[in-house]
Amino acid sequence: MVHSGVIYFIIGNRDRVMFYITTPIYYVNARPHLGTTYTTVIADVMSRYHRLMGEDTFFLTGTDEHGINIQRVAENKNITPQQHCDELASAFQETWKKLHIQYDGFIRTSENRHIEVVQQVFDYLFKKGVLYKGVYNGWYCPRCESYYNLEELEEDNCPIHKSKVDYLEEETYFFSWSNYQEKLLEYYADRPHFVVPENRYREIISFVERGLKDISVSRTSVSWGIPVVSTPEHTVYVWLDALLNYLSAVGFNSDGNLFSTLWPPKVQVIGKDILRQHAAFWPAVLMALELPLPDHLMVHEFFLVTGSKMSKSGGNVFDPLVLIDELSKLTGVDPKISADALRYFLIKDGPEKNDSDFSFDSFINRFKVDLANDWGNLINRTFGLMLRLGLTRVPNPDGLYDSEFKTEVQKYIKLYHQSFAQLSPKEALNQISITLKFLNSYIDTHRPWSAEVKERDNCLYHILEGIRIVSLLMLPFMPVSSEIILRSLSYHMDTIDLKTETSVYKIIPDTPIFLNLPPIFPRPK
Ligand code: MSP
Repeated sequence: MVHSGVIYFIIGNRDRVMFYITTPIYYVNARPHLGTTYTTVIADVMSRYHRLMGEDTFFLTGTDEHGINIQRVAENKNITPQQHCDELASAFQETWKKLHIQYDGFIRTSENRHIEVVQQVFDYLFKKGVLYKGVYNGWYCPRCESYYNLEELEEDNCPIHKSKVDYLEEETYFFSWSNYQEKLLEYYADRPHFVVPENRYREIISFVERGLKDISVSRTSVSWGIPVVSTPEHTVYVWLDALLNYLSAVGFNSDGNLFSTLWPPKVQVIGKDILRQHAAFWPAVLMALELPLPDHLMVHEFFLVTGSKMSKSGGNVFDPLVLIDELSKLTGVDPKISADALRYFLIKDGPEKNDSDFSFDSFINRFKVDLANDWGNLINRTFGLMLRLGLTRVPNPDGLYDSEFKTEVQKYIKLYHQSFAQLSPKEALNQISITLKFLNSYIDTHRPWSAEVKERDNCLYHILEGIRIVSLLMLPFMPVSSEIILRSLSYHMDTIDLKTETSVYKIIPDTPIFLNLPPIFPRPK
């Protein structure tokens, strides 16, 4: 229990540990677009993987609703900020549902459970002497809700948004960030994988080495925010408000048992634009609260459109729901399968370690090459052949297990799990693609359509085993499509455990197979 004069922070018993993963909470100045969708899909894939591996997981996402930017957007629409936020929070929830995002918690910063925590933390930090009153004068970008020095501006504009910044001069509370500089550097030195990938870690270390200045954490000119209890003319700076969602959503100071089971997060997924806030400011706040820091910050790059960052303000955003509809129109598949295909594309071609340019054609092309050609075709040709031969059960390999097949597939499975451990879902997916290529060439070499019965059955046994394994490995990425295929192999979906089932030769001969699947990934017209 942490005690500071007035406030007690309730910390309960830690009788089990969960895999707690978060996304940033999204500004409600825009509907979800491909950039925000990318961050969310990564977190969903990671959390599904860990859940399938038998871990208790908790996946948190939500919306960041306060600040001058949202206040202005609502004023322009002639509605109250709360009305605007309600509309947009629903838009995020609906979009995530259509993309099979399986979150456990959704936090909105306008909720009371969050407001209370922010007010308690602010009071605690003030009483502890970490916050102090002063006057801020300097530049502020309302679009990224961040303060800038004159030297950081580019031709008097925000270095990120290239747009006009406001000059502020107002009474404020400061957070003594500078006091944490040494502690942060020590922490970084002790934890080589706190920020992944390494180039982003080096960036934050050199940012902190250049020196931290105390940061203003309240505003008197922004009414759409959380008031400081002792001085309600101040509202809490949106970034301090927003970061505390990771605590308020999991029972901090209200449900001690839940909180101690979850805290600290194992992985926090963020884009590179919010690295400083998460890797230097947030850890300092946690140190001030005497709370453990997250294990890993997983940082990704940007989706671009013809070279510029995809963003609402850039006017070049793609709506994931429109992309899903377009793919369904071109292929005739159910939107649930199209949503899976978009998830696949995002991880396969998304900006995990490098910026990546998005175009509609690249999305359709990925569908054709990887899903229609490689995966879809493997299933169609295997199931099609079995149908023609009247085989409705997994054939018996007749004791002849191909050890080369086993070695090869086992190698990919191992690399898949390793990639997840190294926080690279993209590499995990690459291993699945390699497995699919291997399986297609296995069919080509063994030619079951013209082989003797014994060899034919042996080959089909191995291919069905490959299809089973690929569908299992694909579950975190494409949950709906993989489930359809696994069910056709008589799998009981409620008992799936990736840890034990992703080993070779687990498919049982004589298991019934439901072969009448319509082509799952038909080629686009
Ligand atoms: N509200 C803050 C986060 C507060 S978390 C305590 C915020 N919101 S955001 O809506 O602007 O962005 C959220 C996430 O979307 C970030 O991880 C950001 O990097 C990601 N993306 C937004 N546009 C993007 C691209 N064009 N490409 C990839 N991801 C990008 O920041």
